[in-house]
Parts: sequence; structure tokens; C-alpha cells
Amino acid sequence: MKTQSGTSRIRRLVLGSAIAAALLPLAGGSFAAELIVIKFSHVVAADTPKGKGAEKFRELAEKYSAGAVKVEVYPNSTLYKDKEEMEALQLGSVQMLAPSLSKFGPLGVREFELFDLPYIVDSYDDLHKLTSGPVGQQLLARLEPRGIKGLAYWDNGFKVMSANAPIRTPEDLKGKKMRIQSSKVLEEQFREVKALPQVLAFSEVYQALQTGVVDGTENTISNYYTQKVHEVQKHITVSDHGYIGYALITNRKFWDGLPANVRSQLERAVKESSEYANRIAKEENDAALEAVRKSGKSEIYMPTEAERLAFKKAFVPMHRKMEARIGAETIQAVYRETGFDPDRM
Ligand code: LMR
Repeated sequence: MKTQSGTSRIRRLVLGSAIAAALLPLAGGSFAAELIVIKFSHVVAADTPKGKGAEKFRELAEKYSAGAVKVEVYPNSTLYKDKEEMEALQLGSVQMLAPSLSKFGPLGVREFELFDLPYIVDSYDDLHKLTSGPVGQQLLARLEPRGIKGLAYWDNGFKVMSANAPIRTPEDLKGKKMRIQSSKVLEEQFREVKALPQVLAFSEVYQALQTGVVDGTENTISNYYTQKVHEVQKHITVSDHGYIGYALITNRKFWDGLPANVRSQLERAVKESSEYANRIAKEENDAALEAVRKSGKSEIYMPTEAERLAFKKAFVPMHRKMEARIGAETIQAVYRETGFDPDRM
């Protein structure tokens, strides 16, 4: 039913509860326009590839929608921690997230863990072949039945490992308690070298290392630097043994319920902020490595070619064991895409 003047501009949308919760009247109680609020929660610092990508999305979404959309970015687990944020998205308490690809297993989409297979990609180029090709796109589509829409992939980078003792060979990991993200592939990776993997939320890593709950961890150097992990780990090895990146995701009901013009403005913001996030990821990690080096708090070790090969030979045999979890076909498709051959190292 249409009414006169200001109120006639109300868009009478049939909305799911997710979007209804995100719509706010403007100041003064007038319904002359609807403000669409997007809460974007994440667990890392604002000064990281993901944190900067989220800020860029906020800036562009607000600009392209000419103020119809307001994006609130909550970094550093200030709103939700790892596990809670997924639930919050499904419930519609937040509208956007960019969880690490290692955190989709608990949601029931285990195939994302293929990105955790050690040495599965050894360059950003290889990685992009996967994310922009059929493998990556099919994975995003698998989120839909869970009420989630996959919008894009965002890069972080390649992982280093650390402890309070040097890690130069796979044997150095034996018996060490290593913090991992909630991924069975990462669990198996460390079991393969007789380390003791332990899942912890990202927000708990610093303290767990400081108090000795775990001995070591793995992550990108930008995550080390911005969480000050290098201050509680004496030795960091730049092993590049695996990759950490993200899927930018939204609540499907929320996204599908948006007015078409707003959705296309947001799609443009997604596209451009994704290009930005992926452009800065390597520079951010290079700068963080330099900053950690300069801090002098942790010794950074660059393995020799022979040492890199020894890690590769120790870790890669576990790919086979993960066929049941990820799908032998999917793993073969990845090998074909990147040219990786586990029998030739
Ligand atoms: C983690 O170690 O939990 C990180 O991958 C967090 C993140 O989002 O980068």
C-alpha cells in the first residue's frame, strides 16, 4: 500500500530477518529513507591485508551507495571470535566476514581445507589459478545451502613457523605443541612430523604462546607482526610451507534481499576492494617481515634450498591421507591447475 509524501518512499521489501535487523530509521524517527547497516566482523588487526581490505570495502560501499549503506568494521575479534563469527553470520547478527579458508571445515564444507595442504601452491599466481578457476568457484557455491554467499577470495600470504628453539629441520618440530587453525589438514600436517597440533582461536594465540600453553605456531608474518607474536617467539623460520587466505562471505538472505540497485553498488565495492586487498597482500607481508627483523625480538631464519626440500619431503606425503576428506578428484584437479607433482620433488 502506498502512502503520501515522505513515507511513499519506503521500499516495501519482503525481507528476511537478517536484513530487517540491518535496516535502521534515520535520525528523527523518519522513515524517509532506509539505512542499510552492514556489520563486518573479523579477527585480525586493522593494519593487515584483510583489515585494510575491509576498510576499503567500507569506503567504497558507502561511496557507491551514496550513503544508503553504512558499513561498520569490527577488527581484532572485538565483536566475535573465530567460531562465533560463523554462527553470527548464519543467524544474521553480522552481514559480512572474511574467515580464513582453514575455518570452513566446522561449517561442513571441508573441501576448503585443500588450501591448507602443505606446498599445494608456491606462488600467488598459482593460487589465483585456483581461486579464479572452477575449483575456487565451485567451493564458493557449496556455501549456499548453508545460508552463506561467497563473494570473493582475498589473499594474505605464505606461512612462517616459529618456536622458542630454532626450527631448521622437520625433526625440530617433533614433540612441539603447535597452535593451528581449526583444520583437519593442518592437524595432519603437524602429526606427520610428530608435532602436537592444538586448535586455538586466533585471539588466544599470543597469550597461549606467552604462557607456554603451546610451544609454537604458524601464520603469515603480517599476522605475527600485528599481534606481536614475534615478541613471544624467539625463532621464526620463513618456510613458506603453506598459504593463508580468505573467503569474503555474506549472509545469503541478506544479500538476496537487498534492493537490486544497492546490490550492484555493493558488488562493485566487492570487486574493487578485492582487487585492492589482493594487490597489497604481498607488500604488507614483505613490510611486516622487515619490521620483525628490525625489532630484533625474534631471529628470522631463511632455510637453504636443501632445508626447504627436506620440509617438503616430510610434509607432502600427507596429501594422500587427505583424499578421503577433500576428495581425490579435487586434489587431482588442483595438481593439474598448478602443475604440482607430489612424486617429483
Ligand atoms: C589464524 O591464524 O587464525 C588466522 O588465519 C587469522 C586470520 O584471519 O588471518
